[in-house]
Amino acid sequence: MKRMIEFELNGQQVTAEVDGGDLLLSVLRDQFDLYGVKESCGAGECGACTVIIDGRAVTSCLYPAMEAEGRSVTTIEGLAQPDGTLHPIQESFIEKGAVQCGFCTPGNVLSAKALLDKNPDPSEQEIRTAIAGNLCRCTGYHQIVEAISHAAGRKS
Ligand code: FES
Ligand code: FES
Repeated sequence: MKRMIEFELNGQQVTAEVDGGDLLLSVLRDQFDLYGVKESCGAGECGACTVIIDGRAVTSCLYPAMEAEGRSVTTIEGLAQPDGTLHPIQESFIEKGAVQCGFCTPGNVLSAKALLDKNPDPSEQEIRTAIAGNLCRCTGYHQIVEAISHAAGRKS
């Protein structure tokens, strides 16, 4: 049965009509045109669909849309300033060559943001743990870890 839910999406209060089987990934892409939320495995294994919910990095392909009621959801589209100025983590990814094909990038950036918001000065191991659920076929992870570490330095 369909029902209206209300939640915060990238800083705005929004409503969506969802039913019990809807996943947050589909609602974000199909109802809000947020195509930075990628679908790949659809099984919680690749991290391409990562969003931040109430400060936590979450795989939206497994997250029931109804559970978003009353929560705060951030997608990659919510990170840059309205004038297009990129978030420091996004700038660091570009500077450090952590973006190649880009498919994993929204998920990795959002996992990094969730980490740095909680832990502004993470160790390399803490960074690797935070992105352990975000698979990247291109970079070998080194540049991603370096970019996150660089972003942490900028923020502090
Ligand atoms: S598409 Fe969600 S974890 Fe792979
Ligand atoms: S940059 Fe291609 S999968 Fe990560």
